[in-house]
Amino acid sequence: MKVLNFGSLNLDYVYAMDEFVQPGETRACLGRQIHCGGKGLNQSIAMARAGLPVWHAGIIGQEGGLLRETLVESGVHLDFLRQDDAPGGHTVIQVDSHGQNSILLYPGTNAAITRGFVDEVLSAFGPGDVVLLQNEINLVPYIMEKAAERGLAIAFNASPFPGVETYPLSLVRWLFVNEIEGGAISGETEPQAILQALRAKFPKTEVILTLGSDGSLWANDRETAFCPACHVQAVDTTGAGDTFTGYFVAVMASGQPVERALDLASKAAALAVMKEGAARSIP
Ligand code: RIB
Repeated sequence: MKVLNFGSLNLDYVYAMDEFVQPGETRACLGRQIHCGGKGLNQSIAMARAGLPVWHAGIIGQEGGLLRETLVESGVHLDFLRQDDAPGGHTVIQVDSHGQNSILLYPGTNAAITRGFVDEVLSAFGPGDVVLLQNEINLVPYIMEKAAERGLAIAFNASPFPGVETYPLSLVRWLFVNEIEGGAISGETEPQAILQALRAKFPKTEVILTLGSDGSLWANDRETAFCPACHVQAVDTTGAGDTFTGYFVAVMASGQPVERALDLASKAAALAVMKEGAARSIP
């Protein structure tokens, strides 16, 4: 069994703020750092640091050397990482004094995935393998359809959300949503109602609903499980969701019980919020 993560890679320009900038306002920041990020890169690093061999597919831009080095240092396989001359993905992230963030995303080369590249990458994977996706690259629905045709199990983190409601989500084996994403797909607002509505809508899909400081819920067609969150002092929540997803997939892909996956993913995410940055904060 091999795990492929087809996903984004961003340079995160992180600005420490006392409060987020409001519309029409100019506000000086307290400091700036440049970190490696992108939901794809973060989740590959989380899986690798959880001990799972992982192949990352994606496209970095002309300034993407640091992203490549970071993946190499974490032991991620890069046979399917490409580099373009165009500007790569980057973000402008404000982090406030409570550790909350606000992210502006420039997709860059993350949006330059071609069908030919997808077909080439997927030809190296087959039945029993797993592909993890987020919604920060183009062609996600195409990758889902082609991966399903080849017999791969699909894990999908529905973030960022725009467009997700049109995707072939019934092909997904593990669907990761937060309350807002799950609410938008299901039309419900309460966590249990969201979970049950998603389960009814996608009977073959295991749903993982993350609730921030209220913990996380999982359900398949027969059972549900709940895991409380670990309460820690947050310094920077950027990448915590990616840490959770990467750890959960790593544990499930190695055949361990869902309770173990939720527990380890919650603990890893709690450790991640205690450090600044996305990829660098992943335990
Ligand atoms: O989930 C956190 C990530 O979202 C950041 O690293 C940033 O690059 C954005 O993609």
